[in-house]
Amino acid sequence: MKIISCPLELKEYLKGENNSTSFQGNRTIGFVPTMGALHQGHISLIKKAKEQNELVVVSIFLNPTQFLKGEDLDKYPKRDEADKQICKLSGVDILFFPHVADMYTNDEVTLCAPKVRGYVLEGNSRPSHFNGVLTVVMKLLNIVTPTRAYFGKKDAQQLNLISLMVKQLFMSTQIIPVDTVRESDGLALSSRNAYLSPNDREEALKISSSLRQASAMVVKNILDSKEIIKEMRNTLGDLEVFYVEVLNRDFEQLSHVEIGNTIILVEVRVGTTRLLDNIWL
Ligand code: PAF
Repeated sequence: MKIISCPLELKEYLKGENNSTSFQGNRTIGFVPTMGALHQGHISLIKKAKEQNELVVVSIFLNPTQFLKGEDLDKYPKRDEADKQICKLSGVDILFFPHVADMYTNDEVTLCAPKVRGYVLEGNSRPSHFNGVLTVVMKLLNIVTPTRAYFGKKDAQQLNLISLMVKQLFMSTQIIPVDTVRESDGLALSSRNAYLSPNDREEALKISSSLRQASAMVVKNILDSKEIIKEMRNTLGDLEVFYVEVLNRDFEQLSHVEIGNTIILVEVRVGTTRLLDNIWL
């Protein structure tokens, strides 16, 4: 596995790979952007990228611009050596591991998240978060120029906004959504789970329980969004709820679940940690 930290060096290296004589035409590149502290969720993204592409690039970059003042940038879990091992063992070809100074200067062109979709849900309580996400993903996609880029469905709003960016800016990378990976008790994997105390972790199970409950209601043909949200909020109990929403795949509110076109999303605070999860129905 090749490790590169300089964006221009990576661009040159990838150009060389494409010019290599053993391949006819360009090699397909699968790209998995991450902020490190890799877990099975990331590994499933890498696996999918390996299945569908000839070359797999992973980036590890803890992007400061997507954290608001007072958020967890300084305490975000960092496991550089373990992450490198995971990438190597997962068959990653190139690990892009830039420093902040490789990615940003003091005076930057910045992307703005759309005024509606970028400022609801997570964007409502974290204004400017998605500006940071879109800007860094744009930079990363321009550096790697992948055929396909892989994002987890757990961060559904992020996935939606990145797909929108790629479409509206006429970029040619294909965005591939990948299913959420869960612990055996239902907890969705997240690097931020590392913050949870044993008691918090127990409380966090209410999130996946509420989503299972929603899905069970739908199976019984209870499709009314208000009814579903009420039951889910009951299950979430005294956790601080940022939102519970029933939306279509374009992130518009639905009064009733439409099978094949619905995402039910939850974000709560457990202890001091924000956790989000969702199901696609
Ligand atoms: O989901 C993440 O880990 C980050 O938001 C991403 C997409 C790598 C951008 O920093």
